[in-house]
Amino acid sequence: MSMHTISARRTSSNQVMPIRRDLKFQLPADKVTTWHRGSEHLSHFVNTFSLFLPSGERFFIDAVRAYRYRVEDPVLKEEVMAFIAQEAMHGREHRALNDVFIAAVPEAEGIERFVTRLLAWLKHNAPRSYRLSGTIALEHFTAILADQVLSDPRVLEGADPRYAAMLRWHALEETEHKAVAFDVWETVMGRGSRAYVLRCGGLLVATVVFWGIAIPSFLRVLRARGKLGDRAGWRLFKRHFVTETRFLPNLVKPWATYFRPDFHPWDHDNRHVLSQLDTVLGEGAY
Ligand SMILES: [Fe+2]
Ligand SMILES: [Fe+2]
Repeated sequence: MSMHTISARRTSSNQVMPIRRDLKFQLPADKVTTWHRGSEHLSHFVNTFSLFLPSGERFFIDAVRAYRYRVEDPVLKEEVMAFIAQEAMHGREHRALNDVFIAAVPEAEGIERFVTRLLAWLKHNAPRSYRLSGTIALEHFTAILADQVLSDPRVLEGADPRYAAMLRWHALEETEHKAVAFDVWETVMGRGSRAYVLRCGGLLVATVVFWGIAIPSFLRVLRARGKLGDRAGWRLFKRHFVTETRFLPNLVKPWATYFRPDFHPWDHDNRHVLSQLDTVLGEGAY
């Protein structure tokens, strides 16, 4: 596909310009193990995910930055700047969450260190096209998570308001910039069969690696807290994430849309969720 057609596709489907918002959430440290409905299982599921984020966001920024000089479209250039600024803010706020998490559960530090080392290794050893492929795959994944957080209020119902506001803010900005890295990818890789194979391979590898680390890490945190055998905790976890909100089962279908040869993140047009920005920003940022 020519550069011209790619720009046409972008302008017709995506006119959301991400905005840098320098927000601090001052999460109450004493709630870190129980901020979600008083449950360690629910809270640590999200806390464990957070351990991946400061170094993950850094990795995404570097992967996009490595190709920034190839972007000529002035709108996409501006979006890239905003993407970098947003991911930097997310990294900072998740750093704050991880610090209080690690203070309460010291075992979490080893998990974060492992993820940081893995990403640093990839940064120096994987070709930049692979790193951008992994980035757009994980951006797809975070966009799906974000869509669920924002479209089903039950996902964060009963959570401490500051933790909930921080996660909603992150979800809103992930939605705003969900196509930025992808559009950089199409600009530099095009939409031929090589790009398709590399993009889909990136999602498969990223999915296996992510869950392959996330699940044992979550179990390790629960074990450290003496909650691994807590049946009531697991029942609540199952009810919340599987049966009631269907948060986990609902990941599968949108995940698979990525394999369509003509996939674009804004095919799923969920711009309406961005109307929550004012409420979220009014509620929890300090
Ligand atoms: Fe982010
Ligand atoms: Fe992102």
